[in-house]
Amino acid sequence: MADNVQASCDLMMFGASGDLAQRKLFPALYQLARAGLLAQDSRVLAIARTDASEQEMRDRFKARLKAQIKPDEFDDALAERFVERVNYLCLDFNNTEGYEALNEWRSSNNQLIVYMATPPAMYGVIARNLRAQSCCTERTRVVVEKPIGHDLDSSKVINDELAEVYHESQLFRIDHYLGKETVQNLIALRFANNLFASQWDQNHISHVEITVAESMGIEGRWGYFDKAGQIRDMIQNHLLQLLCLIAMDPPSDLSADSIRDEKVKVLKALKRVTPDTMEQTVVRGQYTAGTSDGKPVPGYLQEDGANKGSETETFVALKVEIDNWRWSGVPFYVRTGKRMPEKMSQIIIHFKPAPHYIFDPDQKHLANNKLIIRLQPDEGMALKILTKDQGLDKGMRLRQGPLELTFSETFDTERIPDAYERLLWEVMRGNQYLFVRRDEVEHAWRWVDQIIRNWHDSGEPPKRYAAGTWGPVASIAMITRDGRSWYEDA
Ligand code: BG6
Repeated sequence: MADNVQASCDLMMFGASGDLAQRKLFPALYQLARAGLLAQDSRVLAIARTDASEQEMRDRFKARLKAQIKPDEFDDALAERFVERVNYLCLDFNNTEGYEALNEWRSSNNQLIVYMATPPAMYGVIARNLRAQSCCTERTRVVVEKPIGHDLDSSKVINDELAEVYHESQLFRIDHYLGKETVQNLIALRFANNLFASQWDQNHISHVEITVAESMGIEGRWGYFDKAGQIRDMIQNHLLQLLCLIAMDPPSDLSADSIRDEKVKVLKALKRVTPDTMEQTVVRGQYTAGTSDGKPVPGYLQEDGANKGSETETFVALKVEIDNWRWSGVPFYVRTGKRMPEKMSQIIIHFKPAPHYIFDPDQKHLANNKLIIRLQPDEGMALKILTKDQGLDKGMRLRQGPLELTFSETFDTERIPDAYERLLWEVMRGNQYLFVRRDEVEHAWRWVDQIIRNWHDSGEPPKRYAAGTWGPVASIAMITRDGRSWYEDA
């Protein structure tokens, strides 16, 4: 899959003036053009409700690109050539007749891609209108964003609407974490290195930590976020996908379905959380005023547009257990939150100590090897191993040190592509392996729904934590009860 075959594509982008298109999709397409990965005759049809001329929209797209792209990666002439490939159509997505213009625009030679960068409630309407105008063929590829629904039932409705028009093999459901280079690296790490393959189970691993922390708050997204909360926004998709990649069995090959079959097995094996086990295994939090980057910041309930009585969570910590042969007895401590001290995503694999310990008893706490996988920032990994401390006076004192691999230094990487560059590129090539299959979405909802139901039934409000801290103290207590600590506290 390392080839750079360029497929000629016609990309219809619904929701082209929205935040996702402007912040992620156009910059990703520009970067693909800059890398020479966008075929010369590929074109984009930007579709939105904004009443403006094509030239006005092109000027806006270019100005946004300039604002988004790093100055040393922005080439004015290239950006101009890029926006010239973008046509604009002002369309009310509900207006069936308006879709006729789409047929006039598309060229029958190019691969048609429909990107629905719209609220999921529009997916069915757009799909049906496209079908009514015979805009799509069996070759059309359709890209949809999360969240697919807000629970299992609503996700089924959306998936059914899409399935009325498209076959599963045409659907590319985005979870942008799967497009991150370091997340894909989990597959390489696990299945290309026999060293780890033989250690990857309950015989050798004591527990796993997954942290996805963000320093930013809600910033203008209150309307969306308050209905979702951190469990729907992050756990149901990104965090469970990371957990699946760490926990899944080796696929027989790299094909989309082989990988997705293995991920589904993990989702099916997640231990259910009952009202009785909630207190020990789930913590939900909401930030109050505090500091971020040394500056005072408001609490969630003081953000612009906030409903002061909201009990939506901005932080979740979970102790997840996987009921299968490989992971029996190995907890996965998972947490994610807004307004944490820094933006940082990492996975830590804690290995069990050697079966028989012969060194200084007061150093026993050092005895576990750890594999630290840094997803962002400072992408790389470190394997913490024990060595003898140097010097005549040190005897057999142990010291823990890292075998370090920082991608940018080791591979002299100029820039790590944004997840959307990789994902758009894979859609153009028709590779579904980085996209989420319907049954994955549904199993993830089934598991998350029971936690949400338990929250509602218990009526307990989220626990407060000050902005700029690592979450409610209850999340520390959750892991401490098991005689462990989060990595930054260790
Ligand atoms: C999105 C969530 O899916 O992921 C956001 O909706 C979150 O709330 C974002 O901020 C985090 O993505 P990244 O790539 O910045 O870690």
